[in-house]
Amino acid sequence: MIGMRNVVFVAPFPMDATLRFARGFARLENVRVLGVFQKPPWAEKGRTFDDLVAVEDALNPEDIVSAVRRLEGAYGPTHRLTGVLEPLQTPLGIARERLGIEGPTAAVAERFRDKALMKDCLRAAGIPCAKHRLATSADAASAFAEEVGFPIVMKPPAGAGCRGTYRIESHEDLRSALAVVRPSAASPVLCEEFLRGTEQSFEAVVAGGKVLAHSISHYQPTPLEVVNTPWIQWVCMLPRDIAGAEYDEVRRIGAKVVATLGLDDGFTHMEWFRRTDGSIAVGEIAARPPGGQLTSMTGLVHDIDIYRCWARAVVDGRLDAPWQRNYAAATVFLRGMGRGRVTRIDGLDEAQKRMGALVEEVKLPRVGAPKADSYEGDGYVILRHSEQATLDAAVEVVLDTVRVRYG
Ligand SMILES: Nc1ncnc2c1ncn2[C@@H]1O[C@H](COP(=O)(O)OP(=O)(O)O)[C@@H](O)[C@H]1O
Ligand SMILES: [Mg+2]
Repeated sequence: MIGMRNVVFVAPFPMDATLRFARGFARLENVRVLGVFQKPPWAEKGRTFDDLVAVEDALNPEDIVSAVRRLEGAYGPTHRLTGVLEPLQTPLGIARERLGIEGPTAAVAERFRDKALMKDCLRAAGIPCAKHRLATSADAASAFAEEVGFPIVMKPPAGAGCRGTYRIESHEDLRSALAVVRPSAASPVLCEEFLRGTEQSFEAVVAGGKVLAHSISHYQPTPLEVVNTPWIQWVCMLPRDIAGAEYDEVRRIGAKVVATLGLDDGFTHMEWFRRTDGSIAVGEIAARPPGGQLTSMTGLVHDIDIYRCWARAVVDGRLDAPWQRNYAAATVFLRGMGRGRVTRIDGLDEAQKRMGALVEEVKLPRVGAPKADSYEGDGYVILRHSEQATLDAAVEVVLDTVRVRYG
């Protein structure tokens, strides 16, 4: 008999994409789900959450620790303390250590979060990744560019969503980026050799430190290229078939990365490049599930409740879903040329007619909303089909017919 286990789920805001993960715990037996939020979703009390606590700053380890202590006063010891947001991972690690709760420590979380530390660990283990340097001055950044040659990439050591990420092609680019970034000892910039090729991801279900199941996606094209090219609508594609030998090397490397950085139980989301010469280089890895649509698609291609699967890995350190890839899936992110606010979305009827049967989920751009500056655009369409060619054709239909207008 397993007794009731307390799981504390932390997030600043109850975004829909975040609550989906919390609901995964609510679908497990013998789990009491306790929420810690800056803005608690009170309407979910008695549904997703057995109880909720409000904190001033959900990213502050002190606030997390005192909220957990309050909950422990009412419900007893905490079995797991978790959350899916990237900037929460280190605060959660600090709080776990302070409270004596099992799960990734602050040191483990930092290896997945600080991209310079991550690459130091990976290179020491012989795992291929871009040459890098954490530059604490403009001179150090210039010296790195001199050594590896253009192009290079400059980015924050613990950024997200391509923010503050520059592709630098020339001395002139370097000068203008350095004038904005102004690296210093207090605020260093991560410089990297530019990897040429295609970018893909590798998701893993990890239990007992081992990769028990995995998935692969293709980014079409790379997020940085999307950010820098206003007309491109990003596509994230999960191919139907990833059993081929062309993925053996990334399977081997993915497992080694997880073991090297040291996550025990949960999901990981790794980004990697297939260089033009066919070799593989790791981009980065996170000790959490990927963003909403990629997580949902991972569930769709295997026809499983992926949110519950994640919750199970976190709570019990095991995989309890069948992991058979029966479908291909893709998300087309809706975005268009122009500036200002969303005024109209054209082509929806035609797209619906031509590929509506494949649609699993849609978030339409909201008319009146300011244009997003992210590569994920203003909305998305998730498609799924058992035949790769049918899915590919449907993706083309969305890309060719749906147009977001701004003004
Ligand atoms: N060394 C690199 N070579 C080529 N492209 C890169 C490199 N580093 C980052 N990028 C591009 O920038 C994007 C964002 O960088 P990444 O390190 O993944 O940070 P984050 O996703 O946290 O913003 C990547 O998805 C990739 O497209
Ligand atoms: Mg990334």
